[in-house]
Amino acid sequence: MFKDYLASSKQTIEQLLSQVLTSPNQEFKPLYESMNYSLMQGGKRIRPILSKAVLEMLHKNPADYKEFLCAMECIHTYSLVHDDLPAMDNDDYRRGNLTNHKVYGEGMAILAGDGLLTYAFQLMTENKTATPQQKIDAIQCVAAAAGPEGMVGGQAFDMLSEDNHIPLEELKVLHSGKTGALFNASVKLGLILGSANSATTSALMKYSNCLGLLFQIIDDILDVTGTIEELGKTPGSDIRQHKSTYVSLLGLESAKNQATLVGQQAHDALDSISYDTSILSALIDYLLERTN
Ligand code: IPE
Ligand code: IPE
Ligand code: MG
Ligand code: MG
Ligand code: MG
Repeated sequence: MFKDYLASSKQTIEQLLSQVLTSPNQEFKPLYESMNYSLMQGGKRIRPILSKAVLEMLHKNPADYKEFLCAMECIHTYSLVHDDLPAMDNDDYRRGNLTNHKVYGEGMAILAGDGLLTYAFQLMTENKTATPQQKIDAIQCVAAAAGPEGMVGGQAFDMLSEDNHIPLEELKVLHSGKTGALFNASVKLGLILGSANSATTSALMKYSNCLGLLFQIIDDILDVTGTIEELGKTPGSDIRQHKSTYVSLLGLESAKNQATLVGQQAHDALDSISYDTSILSALIDYLLERTN
């Protein structure tokens, strides 16, 4: 059952994550506490699960690449800590708890994010299985996805688009930056480390483009339809901040239809792949139907 696969993968990732953030230095303990606070509680762990599923599809053992899986979750968590800051979305709840800055203060939350981001890159260099070329390619891919052409670029555009009604084509650029880039990097990591051929790579990149967009459309929908208990974060954040979203542009029904359509495109992208794609396929439907 796919639900069991997700649960056991989440457990595997969390077990790996619990081992990475420790400091022998007493003076740095408060920083580590703040980093672990956001990293270790809740979270669907979709990005590392995606890398794990691609590696498994390519008959690799994900445990051999644990540093890369943890790095993706560290970078994603940093993006959430900063996204919630008063200067950005100004949110009070995340992953079922108070946001990092509400507990540790804004300065420590900024530093926890900085720490998670930079440590992710240190972690990836420490992997012992990947070849030097694979490491360079993988780290380059993650850096580009996290940086100004990827997640940070999308976040900046998101911030500047508040109070504006941007056209759908621009919203797609926004979503592919702020969310799509890390989804793409999660898949691409698996492809690089699993030495995938070019046909598999191009098919799975189409898949991940669709999956990232689908994920953010559903995130936009859940901001309107979800409850704080389900989401672990306060709904209505986008409306409060006058964000451009699929729901604000198209309305709820049309946003749902778009998500379904993009989900079908993700399924289509898997058709040409000669490996077992059943997990990647089930992931599309899970992300379409998710309530958190
Ligand atoms: C939330 O990501 C931020 C977006 C890119 C929409 P997730 O919905 O994956 O958050 P967690 O990791 O499960 O908390
Ligand atoms: C945030 O998008 C995406 C990143 C953190 C990069 P949102 O602002 O929509 O995410 P939520 O809804 O707060 O989780
Ligand atoms: Mg945001
Ligand atoms: Mg937000
Ligand atoms: Mg959102």
